Amino acid sequence: MLTRKVKSVILAAGKGTRMKSELPKVLHTIFDKPLLGYVIDSVNKTGYVSENFVIVGHEAEKVEAYVNENYTNAKCVLQSPQLGTGDAVNKTMPYLKDFDGYVIVICGDTPLITSETIKSFIDFHEINEADLTVMSAIFENPKNYGRIIRDKNKKFIAIAEEKDATAEQKAVKEVNAGIYCINWKTVSPAFNSLQNNNAQGEYYLTDIVKWAVNQNLNVQSYILDNNEEIFGINSKLHLSQAIKILNRKNVEKLMEDGVEIIDPDTVYISPETEIGADTIILPNVYITGKNKIGSHCKIGPFSQIRGGTQIGNNVRIGNFVEIKKSIIKDNTNVSHLSYIGDSELGSKVNIGAGTITANYNPISKIKSKTIIKDGANTGSNSVLVAPVTINEMASIGAGSVITKDVEPYSLAITRSPMRIFSNWVKTKIEQLSGGIK
Ligand code: UD1
Ligand code: CA
Repeated sequence: MLTRKVKSVILAAGKGTRMKSELPKVLHTIFDKPLLGYVIDSVNKTGYVSENFVIVGHEAEKVEAYVNENYTNAKCVLQSPQLGTGDAVNKTMPYLKDFDGYVIVICGDTPLITSETIKSFIDFHEINEADLTVMSAIFENPKNYGRIIRDKNKKFIAIAEEKDATAEQKAVKEVNAGIYCINWKTVSPAFNSLQNNNAQGEYYLTDIVKWAVNQNLNVQSYILDNNEEIFGINSKLHLSQAIKILNRKNVEKLMEDGVEIIDPDTVYISPETEIGADTIILPNVYITGKNKIGSHCKIGPFSQIRGGTQIGNNVRIGNFVEIKKSIIKDNTNVSHLSYIGDSELGSKVNIGAGTITANYNPISKIKSKTIIKDGANTGSNSVLVAPVTINEMASIGAGSVITKDVEPYSLAITRSPMRIFSNWVKTKIEQLSGGIK
């Protein structure tokens, strides 16, 4: 238990120029979840924070729409124009006027930060009775980050931004992670005194360190061992590196828990996917969003599972199969070349190669459900036009287009009858070789 209340300020107003994108930086996704979502989730998961303020500016409507749709304890605050990270935090002043607690400031572009780290960071701040704590980490290549500046006695006295740093400061490998814990009562006056006379002409949040040191306040740095967690996304190269880091963590955790992954380098699995022990994941499988997969399943090679999917035990999802937002019960097979979307499959269902659930009407833009009950099977190349139900033990003939519900134990087939024209080819050849003038 902490002695003070905690609120957070999440910085998400910047354009993210180096992303070279129309989409605001913080809405770029990893496994279909925006970078900003990772940060808000980690902050919330600490269990310490009662309210989040998200600073929005560039494409504010888009960022705000995402936040309002997904979070009830987050409020967006507009920063326009964007005059720097210090100016961004200053925008929360009206909401925090009488607040007597800790304010966590964190950048919306550091998706790898975990709730455990944020929690121990806040604990550290409290135990040390600090006024200001800055998270730092050691980087062999500290480029792009602000450097932690210490005096002769190793006392933390300032942060120097890369663009303002002297050659000597640039050599420092301890960097500012961009995560701060602020005793709001004692440190918030700093925001009114920030200056923008620096290389970028911005109001730097980092300058509150110098201010607090001058006021003889208790300023601490919390050095993080695992520098991967504070990796800030500034470009699409960084984004791809963050995906790799997060994926490796997920995949290693799953293998520890008994999932067999043949080639971890080609498999991508979102952090919100649970998989049971003894399930085998074959190469080139891509799983995004929130899913639950049981035990003793075999997934892949080359399959995609999108969010909202629940798969039971002993299920086979084979090559070139896409599953979206579907429930699949035990002992069912979807072995090859199929699309199963917005569907419910019972147990012991067999889906023939090339079966498609046609779930989307592009004119009405409505998505409908396909229900396939226990023991039913579909022949190869069937199209099931939703909404439609295939009842228990029913059978669909290969090549059928199913538009009506199928009764239990019956066969449905829409294929036109097969006809044979005997010697048709032979006659054609004879005609062409001059038999008839
Ligand atoms: C910042 C820090 C740097 C630190 C690094 C860690 C400052 C001055 N520098 O640099 O010391 O090492 O983060 O990743 O704080 N933003 C706003 N409004 C603005 C400007 C930025 O909301 O006016 C937001 C951005 O959307 C972003 C975050 O603040 O989420 C950080 O901004 P960015 O430009 O990426 O700062 P860095 O140069 O990385
Ligand atoms: Ca950054």
